[in-house]
Amino acid sequence: MSEEDVRGDGGLEARLEEQETFEPPAEFVEQANVTDESIYEQFEQEWPECWERAADFLEWEQAYDEVLVEDDAPTYQWFTGGKLNASYNCLDRHVEDGRGDAVAIEWEGELGEQRTYTYAELLAEVNEFAAALRELGVEEDDVVTMYMPMVPELPIAMLACARIGAPHSVVFAGFSADALATRMNSSDSEYLVTCDGYYRRGDALEHLSKANEGLTDVEHETSTVVVDRLGDDVEHDLGADQYDYDELVAAHEGETVEPVTRDAEDMLFLMYTSGTTGKPKGVKHTTAGYLAYTAWTSHAVLDLEPEDTYWCSADIGWITGHSYIVYGPLALGTTTVMYEGTPDYPDKDRFWEIVDDYDVDVFYTAPTAIRAFMKWGAEYPEKHDLSSLRLLGTVGEPINPRAWKWYYKHIGDEQCPIVDTWWQTETGGHIITTLPGVCDMKPGAAGPGLPGIDVRVVDAAGEEVDAGEAGYLSIDKPWPSMLRTLYRNDERFIEEYWTEYSDPEADEWVYFPEDGAKIDDDGYITVLGRVDDVINVSGHRLGTMEVESAIVGTQGVAEAAVVGGDHEIKGEAVYAYVIPEDGYEGGDELEDEIVDNVVDAIGPIAKPEEVVFTPELPKTRSGKIMRRLLEDIASGNELGNTSTLRNPEVVEDIQRQVQGE
Ligand code: WT7
Repeated sequence: MSEEDVRGDGGLEARLEEQETFEPPAEFVEQANVTDESIYEQFEQEWPECWERAADFLEWEQAYDEVLVEDDAPTYQWFTGGKLNASYNCLDRHVEDGRGDAVAIEWEGELGEQRTYTYAELLAEVNEFAAALRELGVEEDDVVTMYMPMVPELPIAMLACARIGAPHSVVFAGFSADALATRMNSSDSEYLVTCDGYYRRGDALEHLSKANEGLTDVEHETSTVVVDRLGDDVEHDLGADQYDYDELVAAHEGETVEPVTRDAEDMLFLMYTSGTTGKPKGVKHTTAGYLAYTAWTSHAVLDLEPEDTYWCSADIGWITGHSYIVYGPLALGTTTVMYEGTPDYPDKDRFWEIVDDYDVDVFYTAPTAIRAFMKWGAEYPEKHDLSSLRLLGTVGEPINPRAWKWYYKHIGDEQCPIVDTWWQTETGGHIITTLPGVCDMKPGAAGPGLPGIDVRVVDAAGEEVDAGEAGYLSIDKPWPSMLRTLYRNDERFIEEYWTEYSDPEADEWVYFPEDGAKIDDDGYITVLGRVDDVINVSGHRLGTMEVESAIVGTQGVAEAAVVGGDHEIKGEAVYAYVIPEDGYEGGDELEDEIVDNVVDAIGPIAKPEEVVFTPELPKTRSGKIMRRLLEDIASGNELGNTSTLRNPEVVEDIQRQVQGE
């Protein structure tokens, strides 16, 4: 399939022109968790009390007094006075309800090993590891960092932390040692849970040395727990203050740890994400609002039932995995599938083999994966029985209608609705998407805001735009799983999200997600992508400034500009335009050093697709780099008027290089 075929209709205009709608299949609607369309009106009329419905998905040790307290807006407080424990809600109560033998986690390793944890087994190991963490000195409110691939010990460690009231901070295993150190320093985290390695395409990939390298840059004392994933394949040594996970758990065999009573607004976890500046933002999520909302949306949007087997192919190192592999599904008592590896190992049908083997009912993945499946061809899903599927979902970036339709037809057999879910690390859970048992679907448009979510498309002044016009997303009312602040940086929290459209004097606060969007006459929103200097590579958020600072740290680089350019599979890819320093030449050698530095600073996901050397960057008369122009060059778009540039002559040269490669 050519690039044109895969992304041919990815263009915005094409996406908007496509007016097709699909009704949810009757068979799905008949059994759906939410089918009453008046839910939108009910939530509006009963707001904010409507959120009691989300809170009702949880078991509370002490009932909350108020649904919403706005005194400290925009730091809103939800379910104040309420007390609960997230691990109790995800584990104990299901066991107490007689569902201890129901499967909580089905884990499949890349080599094909399988591990099944019933709720009772998961609870037992969470208890044991919680006891071990306590013995290591972890106290309530201590931040525990996890730097782990997709192994069951990751959700176990998260739930063990939740049990003892220690917020976790999970760092994606693909991030670099530097990235780990930055996050541990920024959160004063004295504990790390990591892993000796994992498998990728059949090869054992060492991970511990990366963790150790990161630890050397951590400014305070640390204790580390190491999970042995590779066994005899790769030996590893433990340093001082490093403990073997299995030994710790064995030493606490059979122990139980009383779940710590947490206030509704106590921190459940931190998750670092990229922003406009070079410094990642520590997004703080709290216990009750987050858990209630992820449980509610798992029920209403993902349509999950306790009896379901559900698979979200994301990595737990991102918010999608936190909300919709771990917390939402487990709060509902569902079986959640975890897969360690890649979709094309040993062959390109691995995902469909998993769906077939486990009889997956609901499958949730990213458009970047769907575009790859599409490129590989329908023969791979056709080899397997996918008839267990009832609902499909996508997340992370806009999905082009062609990929949507391929997914609908070849994976869902036109029998499964698709929910295209727009949300962010900061929102904690789904914000814009269809309710699958209620709404028609429009390929390319995520849908309306969920019930109780006041999302709008506005112009630069904050006024709602007409249907069909481009504007910016805004969220005008708070919601339970919203971020509460940026860790130890309230100022940046206000600055990043609450200055654009808010009126602090009038105490009116409007959340600015930093995405562009359009809305149609039916209120369906088509998300156009980030409007800040953040790019979206394979559904992963990267700050261009972070990449730029890694590049300018390379000897021989004078200046650099990083932008996102269209990419057939990844959605966007990193393009780096670099001015070499006097006396240095832009060539393979410098390029290799630049790429190495980016991988060291962030990780392989930030690897530039292309490094373009240029004596100058296109700048406006006032000296601002014309990023838009660099984006257009990277995407191969037609360029607008360049005559207002200070140095229009550089454009052609840059363009020639990009096209020539
Ligand atoms: C950014 C958030 C949500 C978990 C994964 C990413 C983009 C996300 C969609 C969608 C169009 C989407 C937005 C958003 N995005 N979902 N369905 N359609 N764009 O979380 O790393 O915090 O990134 O991802 O640009 O702002 P994240």
